[in-house]
Amino acid sequence: MASTGKTLGVTAIVIVGLGLIAGGITWAVLATTRSEAPPPEILPLDWWQHCVLYQIYPRSFKDSDGDGIGDLKGIISELEHFVDAGVDAIWMSPIFESPMVDFGYDISNFYRIHHEYGTMEDFMELLTRSHELGIKVLLDFVPNHASNESEYFIKSEAREPGYEDFFIWADGLEDPNNPNNTLPPSNWVSQFGGSAWEWSTKRQQYYLHQFAIQQADFNFRNQAVRDEMFNIMKYWLDRGADGFRVDALPYLIEADPADHGGRYPDDPLSGRVEFEPHQLGYTIPLYTKDLIELYDVVYEWREFVDKYLEENGGDTRVLFSEGYANVTMTMLYYGTGDVGGARGVRGAHFPFNFDFITDLSARSGARDFAYVVLRWLTYMPHGATPNWVFGNHDNNRMPTRFRERMVDGLNSLSMLLPGVTVTYQGEEIGMKDGYVSWEDTVDVEACNRGDENTYHLYSRDPARTPFHWNSSTNAGFSSANRTWLPVADDYQELNLALQKEAERSHYKVYQALTALKKRQKSLSHGEYSIRALSDSTLCLVRYLRTYDTIVLLFNVADNSDTVDLSRVAQLKLPATVYVSSVHSSRREGDTINGENITLSAGEAIVLRSEPVS
Ligand code: GLC
Ligand code: MG
Ligand code: CA
Repeated sequence: MASTGKTLGVTAIVIVGLGLIAGGITWAVLATTRSEAPPPEILPLDWWQHCVLYQIYPRSFKDSDGDGIGDLKGIISELEHFVDAGVDAIWMSPIFESPMVDFGYDISNFYRIHHEYGTMEDFMELLTRSHELGIKVLLDFVPNHASNESEYFIKSEAREPGYEDFFIWADGLEDPNNPNNTLPPSNWVSQFGGSAWEWSTKRQQYYLHQFAIQQADFNFRNQAVRDEMFNIMKYWLDRGADGFRVDALPYLIEADPADHGGRYPDDPLSGRVEFEPHQLGYTIPLYTKDLIELYDVVYEWREFVDKYLEENGGDTRVLFSEGYANVTMTMLYYGTGDVGGARGVRGAHFPFNFDFITDLSARSGARDFAYVVLRWLTYMPHGATPNWVFGNHDNNRMPTRFRERMVDGLNSLSMLLPGVTVTYQGEEIGMKDGYVSWEDTVDVEACNRGDENTYHLYSRDPARTPFHWNSSTNAGFSSANRTWLPVADDYQELNLALQKEAERSHYKVYQALTALKKRQKSLSHGEYSIRALSDSTLCLVRYLRTYDTIVLLFNVADNSDTVDLSRVAQLKLPATVYVSSVHSSRREGDTINGENITLSAGEAIVLRSEPVS
């Protein structure tokens, strides 16, 4: 049937052509129109689908009052930086009232701004000023747990009606060796080491904490808890927040004793002899992580923000979910299925893609890069938006995990791949981990899991040292005598002010990339092809008929490499260098003619070539 239709179509054109016999010309026009399909349709994208999203770690971004701790007024004073850098949206690690055991991830009041960071007025000013500059502002929503100093916990521990089951409380098990003692309800291990259960003398029961002892896990099987989460979200949306980064989702729900004969089931043992029972890794988190029920909670939240938009108008309010999990469990956060009669995504707008953190490193070859990128794009549900994360406050900084020479290539990848670019503060200037001595170490994970000799294996402090604004005292971060974490000692050579002045710098490359990302339709709407041209050189092509083709060549290895560009089907030579990594000998505007090209260790070049036909 289809082919008959096509034949008829061709016949019709011929007849028209003959009918307007005046014309060879008319005929030619018709013939051309027929062989060249119309330009591709450019559907408008929603603001978040192709944005540059920047993570602020507020404690370390900018200190306005000289107490050595970053704050909201500090952020407000530097909002222009985002405009200058080409950032579209910011998300801030928690700024809510907190005893700061886990630096804000232990929230004692979800409705208040933490005093070291400022006031509600400051927050409102931050929102207004950001919105005036066209920057969206996302908050960190931490639903899994609350501080043991929160009112919720205090009331729950006291068994106040309505709060009794706000957290996961359980009786201890009998201790066969000591009738006066009880043992934790199960063998569950906390993310920060030690039993995930803590005894409350007051309530004479254990409570669950998947993270620090001071971070008690909410009971998500309790409707009142679920309702309170809506209240919290609504409160901040009402104030004007554009959405949330949602924290620690894999740990939201644990096994229900009702399904296990009335007791909490032990997690199976991993059999890994290098771990002791109190250490993370001793067990396999079968009953404590990635439970299938948690996804329904996420889908409920999506429904909630969508409904909020419907009722209140404005721009889309988004949910970006955090969780380290395998690809299958990660993709479930997107959620697919029927949404309002159409097939679409009904979960988080996206789950953060941590593959560049967990699966790639300085040891990876070009084939590993291509494979890891394609895995995400392959598993992602149809119609969903990809995203690329290279670092955050929980992991060593990007140039430290990879190599310094790779900074521009990695930023190019994050900017040129389809979807959302995520930048952790400092990546735009290539900041590396700072050194933090055991004496200066404050991270609860390092302090709980490590000692003087091993803390560096766990510490998240090196990725959290203050931002390098300039070469002055404390890198321009603070006027304090002592900052909450030491400023990394390379700040005089590596800082934003210097990179703005320099002719070539990571920051200038970053700016060129954000500008390209905003402008090029082949990046926002085009196809992609990513592959290894050799063990060392990765090639990403973005193309869309009638628009410039953009090609990234990136030598991820520690030695130079020669590749044959004739193998890149969509690349038409000669091509022009749009931007190159700071160590490259190539410059903007250079022409690439030859088919063989040699890239030095870590070199990245972004080329522009004629559209594909
Ligand atoms: C997330 C945060 C991390 C925090 C943990 C507990 O993984 O990114 O910093 O310690 O959740 O809230
Ligand atoms: Mg301060
Ligand atoms: Ca939990």
